[in-house]
Amino acid sequence: MTTPHPGLSDADVARVRDALAEAGYTVDGVRDLLGPRASAALDRNETTPGRLAVAGSDEPLALLARLWSLQAPVERRLLERVLPVEPLLSGGILEASADGDTVRAAVDIRPYADDAGDWWVVADLTPGMDGQRAPIPDDHVLGLNAASSTLAQLTVRRPAGRALDLGTGCGVQSLHLARHSERVVATDVNPRALALAALTVRLNGLDVDLRHGSLFEPVAGETFDLIATNPPFVVSPGGHHVYRDGGLPGDEISRRVVVDGARHLSEGGLLQSLANWTHVRGLDWRDRLGSWVEGTGCDAWVIQREVEDPAEYVELWLRDSGEVGDAGYAQRYADWLRWFDEQSVEGIGFGWIALRRTGAADPSVRIEEWPHAVEQPLGPAVGAWFDRVTGLRVSDAALWDARLVQADDVVQEQVGRPGEEDPEHIVLRQRRGLLRAVTAGTAEAGFVGACDGTLPAGVIADALATVLSVDAVKLRAELLPQMRTLVQDGFLELAAR
Ligand SMILES: C[S@@+](CC[C@H](N)C(=O)[O-])C[C@H]1O[C@@H](n2cnc3c(N)ncnc32)[C@H](O)[C@@H]1O
Repeated sequence: MTTPHPGLSDADVARVRDALAEAGYTVDGVRDLLGPRASAALDRNETTPGRLAVAGSDEPLALLARLWSLQAPVERRLLERVLPVEPLLSGGILEASADGDTVRAAVDIRPYADDAGDWWVVADLTPGMDGQRAPIPDDHVLGLNAASSTLAQLTVRRPAGRALDLGTGCGVQSLHLARHSERVVATDVNPRALALAALTVRLNGLDVDLRHGSLFEPVAGETFDLIATNPPFVVSPGGHHVYRDGGLPGDEISRRVVVDGARHLSEGGLLQSLANWTHVRGLDWRDRLGSWVEGTGCDAWVIQREVEDPAEYVELWLRDSGEVGDAGYAQRYADWLRWFDEQSVEGIGFGWIALRRTGAADPSVRIEEWPHAVEQPLGPAVGAWFDRVTGLRVSDAALWDARLVQADDVVQEQVGRPGEEDPEHIVLRQRRGLLRAVTAGTAEAGFVGACDGTLPAGVIADALATVLSVDAVKLRAELLPQMRTLVQDGFLELAAR
């Protein structure tokens, strides 16, 4: 695989940018051109409906969609009306057929967008289109994918000074970070990724400081207000695909991102990472993750989204790298699975890790499992969670003196047999953010029900003890941890004084 020529001139980049914009080569533009059937097929890596949809059209947008979205050859003489073909050929972005009559994409340029506008992302072509099976090169640069979009939605989008995109790949996280950060530094160990990210950045007219090196080496001694990373976290015995294999044993890459990353956070700085972690026989995964985050001195929130069985995991990642359907498949599968067995790995957790450096003497650590649907983008809820953790750094006495109010999005559900007067369970459910649902006992539900911000929490607890004919001291002891959790999770809010 060739590295694109780093010297595409600024004038050529500007011509490409203008051509893409003029043709309306945007997410919506391509979707409208292809229509819902072909767009949905493309999301499944199938191009046939799309090729049928644009057949016979020589419109600029149709040519660009054929070239990049559908990865199909395009007549050079037609494309020259739209793009500066010659520099793109010499820059390794396009390649010509033997007779020179047609050109096709050697590198993907894909429209991308958020609520604020459109971008283009430069990456390697999506492998495995139309059911093709071919092993992915070791230095493959991943394009837009489900994980990058998950991270983009999870990231807290508050104004930041310095932001770090660790393992930038095609540069997608940098695009988002540049919207709300004064300075973005992006790193990668793969020079090919940096070359493609550089083109992404230039094509979008942005200024990102791209640096080569492993993990935090390129930013030694520097701190950031925000670190967003989708690191190469796949757990394998010596995997060689740089886009997903960090080259460290087991889940060490995920641990290093957290432990070393925390040292690169400024005061108030936030690190957000996707990660895999192993479930090792005889060890609680929460204790392993706790040992990663507890020494950082940061508030930490770890959410395990799913756990995969080792065999499923091996199948998924062999498919992902196209290492299937050949004679070596069974051997690769067996070697990987045997290695998991040797390491006593019973499962592989996937989830989200967030740390915030606060300088607090008693950092809060929450490690939990939440495999259910969440409201995306979740970024605002992540930011609010850390704010509430800070707000809860008050004594128990101060919390009893505080006035609490139910969050607007919380509803109460009563679950029981039809016709029965008393519910078997009371469920408090959020309609925003993590969309949590918790079962509440009578006292807890009564307490939440009375929190309208008029009376201090302690007065409500004591009144409830009288109503329920229970000991007020005991009730306070029971309600205190529940109240802290309800505030931390956003069911209750501390009313403004
Ligand atoms: C899963 S991709 C993520 C790409 C992109 N940030 C995204 O969100 O889609 C991981 C990236 O980390 C890079 N990488 C692999 N090992 C690395 C290391 N030791 N240090 C820094 N980056 C590394 C890979 O080249 C790849 O671009």
